[in-house]
Amino acid sequence: MAQVILIEDNETLHNLLSVNLTSLLNVELIPRDNATEAIGLLKILPKIDLIITRVSVGDEDTALQISQYILENGLDIPMIALGDAPEKVKEVSVVFEEFKSWRKIVESAAKLLGISKESLERQIQPDYSPVSIKYFLSVDTICCEVFIRIKKGPDNYQFVKRFHSTDKFSRPIIEKYITQGLDYFYIPHNEKERFATFISNALVMKLDKAMSHAKTEEEQIEAMAEGYDVVTRQILEIGFTPSTIQLTESVIDAIQTNYSNAKEVSPLLYKVINSKSSYMYQISHVTSMIAAECLKEILGDGTPKLKESQKILTYAAFFNDINLVENDELCKIASYEALESEEMEEKEWDQVFNHALESSIFIEDYPESSPTLQQVIREHHGSINGKGFPTSPDSRMCELSKVFIVAETFAREMFRYKESGNKEPRPIISYLYEAFSTPDMIAIVTALESTLKKNKGK
Ligand SMILES: [Fe+2]
Repeated sequence: MAQVILIEDNETLHNLLSVNLTSLLNVELIPRDNATEAIGLLKILPKIDLIITRVSVGDEDTALQISQYILENGLDIPMIALGDAPEKVKEVSVVFEEFKSWRKIVESAAKLLGISKESLERQIQPDYSPVSIKYFLSVDTICCEVFIRIKKGPDNYQFVKRFHSTDKFSRPIIEKYITQGLDYFYIPHNEKERFATFISNALVMKLDKAMSHAKTEEEQIEAMAEGYDVVTRQILEIGFTPSTIQLTESVIDAIQTNYSNAKEVSPLLYKVINSKSSYMYQISHVTSMIAAECLKEILGDGTPKLKESQKILTYAAFFNDINLVENDELCKIASYEALESEEMEEKEWDQVFNHALESSIFIEDYPESSPTLQQVIREHHGSINGKGFPTSPDSRMCELSKVFIVAETFAREMFRYKESGNKEPRPIISYLYEAFSTPDMIAIVTALESTLKKNKGK
């Protein structure tokens, strides 16, 4: 088993790298905090197979110090450096600048360790993998055997078969398990990819059918919400695969068709916000609609740039909080005060504080991704580095990010209005004029106000 030293102080990237390096490359991972610790280890274990390190940790020139040690001692250890590296480091390392995806880093590590795809496939995998029980709400049959895990002792579990691959089951049975507190079923590990494809295909078919046969807009919204909730979870679990990409495209296409065909925007907005669906889905759908309307006013209906810009913001609304998808409550945090008032562990605090940046990195692997889409996602809370929640959005942001922020603030306010029991008579547009003070943001609010008025007049 190859031994790899990892020095990465960004917790999310550290976790992503360690999970994937150990599970995909089956290496022994040795985390170290800085160059001093890593060099200390190299003195005892000079035959380490690979070092992956941040270029600098705090004030320390981590990668430079390690590469100097390697050169001075004539060691033959490949190195991957993450960040803006000096020339000396570039001479001896594979360098990944900021915002590179973990997938590319793992691929590069595999290459440096001489691990081929074939040998990876031969390596031992765990027998069972957990899959969220919620997936089973969307289907009535499954492609593989399904197990429940029962604890027999502190480190001893028994897996009891619950469904055969040919069994039919009903939604109430699954709901009963959920009520009893069961979060995961287990499937044979080697079936995981097939399982994801099966669920995604079932949902794509269901979604397409629902969209073409839906008698009401409510039925359409329900289908889109289900597709959204399932695929965003799947993407977090297994990443972008042909099946998760197909389902994402189907949901995004459905959302775009839905708002393009709507004769009036307002009733549709209320149907989405009052539907039985997750907070994330509602905010995502309403943000897409409002952003599309805003852009129509700013760029002009039927202009070539309009469709492309609307598409970017629909993708942005889909993926902007992708790494918070497992927790609707974290997603509701949109200001520094709200973040500070929530009781949470440091890890969660970091996750929320950095989520715009992390989501923008995550989306790099999506085939429809583009630098503009990544920029909008990174800037979607108003800071150009994707960290925190500034009180006033940074004026250096791109125009599309500004439109996105106005649209998402509208969506959040609409949700808050519903939660308050529709008691506050204040129009959301007035709130937006109060929330934004700079001329560039006010101009976007004015465009939105104008388009909503026109809509009303239709
Ligand atoms: Fe966000």
